[in-house]
Amino acid sequence: DKANYRHFMAKEIHEQPEVVGHTLARYIDMASERVSLPVKLPFDFKDIQRITITACGTASYAGYVAKYWFERMARLPVEVDVASEFRYRESPLRKGDLAIVISQSGETADTLAALRYAKAEGAHTLAVVNVPTSTIARESETVLQTLAGPEIGVASTKAFTCQLMVLASLAVAAGKARGELSEEDETKLVHGLVEVPRLMADALATELQIEKLAHRIAKSRDVLYLGRGTSFPLALEGALKLREISYIHAEGYAAGELKHGPIALIDETTPVVVIAPNDRVFEKTVSNMQEVAARGGNIILMTDAKGAAEATVDSLVTIVMPDMASAFTPMVYAVPVQLLAYHTAVVMGTDVDQPRNLAKSVTVE
Ligand code: M6R
Repeated sequence: DKANYRHFMAKEIHEQPEVVGHTLARYIDMASERVSLPVKLPFDFKDIQRITITACGTASYAGYVAKYWFERMARLPVEVDVASEFRYRESPLRKGDLAIVISQSGETADTLAALRYAKAEGAHTLAVVNVPTSTIARESETVLQTLAGPEIGVASTKAFTCQLMVLASLAVAAGKARGELSEEDETKLVHGLVEVPRLMADALATELQIEKLAHRIAKSRDVLYLGRGTSFPLALEGALKLREISYIHAEGYAAGELKHGPIALIDETTPVVVIAPNDRVFEKTVSNMQEVAARGGNIILMTDAKGAAEATVDSLVTIVMPDMASAFTPMVYAVPVQLLAYHTAVVMGTDVDQPRNLAKSVTVE
């Protein structure tokens, strides 16, 4: 049931602080402020030499964000691939490898095939899934469940942010097990995770501003999304979300790749959504924004108050996000990104929950 919302997607976006909170409570022991996984892992992260993450669509972007976290916090090399490529690539896997698959439905054909391949190659397999009775959950060695609850809208929203919460907790656990994070580091990171649901609730307050902006986006033929670091996969996700439900052409790019081609697309008619929390790569993103502004691009900047004050760039609109010190910004910045796609689709009058040509679960190749 849609409660009082017009679409399931709206309901699911608004549910996120709650369901991400439930997921957090399953993976963190609040009393000791430690990560505490609900299952015992059949391997020790100390023995893992490489992680491969495989998934499709939005779930693959969750995997891409997680790559940054695992590499930084656990110093573990991570490869991310879409399942349709991974399954036929015959990537050599070894016993010391961990293959992570991510899926809301747990039934995506390519992701399932990737899981079976990894298993046959002798790698440890771990699935991050939302449906615990699914085929992927049944067939993988370890299952980490997301507690998003049923997701009805074809566009994935709450499943994505819950996947990020599970993966963030797992990356902290890996960092700790490998001796890359001290107890103090872990406590700090756990504090960062614990505040995410509240920050997501604060981020929902951008909705009115985004609703207005959607009227402008709805008139565009193309929209670009830029981000660096963990905001890069979120830019890919923002573009996918917009294409999927509003049918407006959108692309996401790593901000630093701009000058290697995509900058040729910038003109006065193309809105450029820049996802730029004031993090360690913020200044670099600001210089990319300046390049966009110099070519007449219309910037929609998503940043925090400090970022807004420091960004010496004329933006069309600045969406001021809550301050956060941790590396877990993608969960919070996912909110305005999803809202922008949602309200644009509403203005366009498309079938938001069941966009044309798409199925909720892709069980055929
Ligand atoms: O059920 P899964 O998470 O395996 O589905 C993967 C993709 O099909 C899915 O995320 C798709 O990209 C969404 N419609 C995106 O909103």
